[in-house]
Formats: sequence, structure tokens, C-alpha cells
Amino acid sequence: MILYFTGTGNSLSVARQLAAATGDTAVHIADLTKHGTCTLIRDRVIGFVFPVYFGDIPWPVQEFIRNTKFAPSAYIYAVATCGSTPGNALYNLQQLLAWHRCRLAYADSVSMIANSTSTWKKGVSYDYRRLDAAKDHVAAIAHAVMERRESLRHVKRSLAGSIMGLGVVRQVGSRRFTITANPDACVGCGLCVHICPVGNLTLKDGKVVVSDHCAMCMACVQWCPHGGIFVHGHAIAREDQYHHPEVNAEDLYRR
Ligand SMILES: Cc1cc2nc3c(=O)[nH]c(=O)nc-3n(C[C@H](O)[C@H](O)[C@H](O)COP(=O)(O)O)c2cc1C
Repeated sequence: MILYFTGTGNSLSVARQLAAATGDTAVHIADLTKHGTCTLIRDRVIGFVFPVYFGDIPWPVQEFIRNTKFAPSAYIYAVATCGSTPGNALYNLQQLLAWHRCRLAYADSVSMIANSTSTWKKGVSYDYRRLDAAKDHVAAIAHAVMERRESLRHVKRSLAGSIMGLGVVRQVGSRRFTITANPDACVGCGLCVHICPVGNLTLKDGKVVVSDHCAMCMACVQWCPHGGIFVHGHAIAREDQYHHPEVNAEDLYRR
């Protein structure tokens, strides 16, 4: 089973490509955690695919792993998708799995397009050729997984990851990704409610209401066609919004 988490589709595209190459099934972590229960995954081969946030693993993925039991002898691999630097994400995953007495056998990070750029910059020009390079990279990873290769050479701590992991740095960084409702623009279509992977958004009186357990995945701000969600107090212009070109909002519908 390939367990993925995604906000803007990069990780979904990687999970899909791995699933197609290996004949495995890709499942969104949110679909297994809807009812907050502890899950038992008996699969002999388990892949994790997730985006890097502040050089670390998104909290819903961490929480899922903490609340899940895996077969200790499973072949476990991971792919972290990122803009450029995975920081300590893979190292932290290895530690988290070790806590479960499970062993990460193979891990790599894939540089794609940073879905965070448009939260602080206007007039972004995305270099979509990076996604072609990412496809080649993922094809090589799929090959390694099919051969059950073992390699942890990408599993390491980095100075950047350790700095990003500091409480105060994380706090300041998170503030830049704080989302709030923009009631003047929200038309109450509910798209954001459907695609939020952690159920942080609801509609009340035809307008979006933001709750307090955001995963910072940026799905709502990057997909809303009306600018109905602010990030750090402003809406992202339509032309600056990013999502993986082969992923549709419907692919992310969770509820
Ligand atoms: C809150 C936040 C923090 C991020 N931190 C990092 C980071 O530390 N390093 C990096 O290379 N990319 C970072 N990114 C970019 C994402 O990891 C990258 O775009 C990822 O592929 C998005 O995956 P998705 O489309 O599956 O959601 C960050 C993005 C967000 C929204």
C-alpha cells in the first residue's frame, strides 16, 4: 500500500506514478484516519509519500504513523516531495518508525515545485520542467522499490532542517502560512471544505469558517477560484496559484 498526503497534488502525482509502476494501491492517509481510530496495516510493502513542511513531516502524517501498527517485517520506503530541501523529514520519519520497531529500508526526496512560493511572492513563474525531471527520478525510485533495494543515504539531518525545526523558527514560519476566511470573496461553493485533508474548514451561513487544526497544506488557498481564503492576510492571485498540472481538485475530494 502507498500511503500519501497531499495539498496541491505533487505527492499525489508521485504516489500515482509509484502505484502504476509497482502495481500497488495509493491511499490518502486522510481516508484511513477519518474516524480517529488506530489502524493496522498488514501489507508487506508500505510506501509513504508526503510533502516536506519546514524540513519535517506534516503533522497529519506523523499522527497517522503514531496511531498505526505496521507489520514489523514490512519493506517500508518513503518519498518526500519538496521545493528544494527535505531538511530532516526523512530522518524524522526513520525515527518515528523506529519507535514502532519498524525499519525504513529505502528513502529519497524528490524536488518538484514549491507550493509555498505564491504565499509570499507575486507574479510567480513556475518552472514546470522540474516536474519532468521529477518523473524520471520517481521512475528510478519505483525501480529500486520493485527490486526491494535498501538505501538510506538520503536519510540524514541537515543544518537547515535543524534550524527550521527550532520552536521559535517554526512559530514564525507557521505564522506566514496562517489561513483565515475572506468572507467578502467566499461564494460558499464548499470546494475548500471538500479538499481540506484534515476537516479544518466548514460552511456557516454560506461562508467558509476556518477552524484551528490547519495542516498548512495550502490546498484551500491554492485551489479556491474566488480568493475566499487568505494566507497571512492576503489572497493569492489566480495566475499565481499552484497545483500539480495532472491533478484536479476532484482528485482531492475527501468528504
Ligand atoms: C508550510 C509549508 C512548508 C514547506 N516547507 C518546505 C521545506 O522546508 N523545504 C522544501 O523544499 N519545500 C517546502 N515546502 C514546499 C512543499 O514541500 C512542496 O511544494 C511539496 O511538493 C508540496 O506537496 P503537495 O503538492 O503534495 O502538497 C513547504 C510548503 C509548505 C506549504
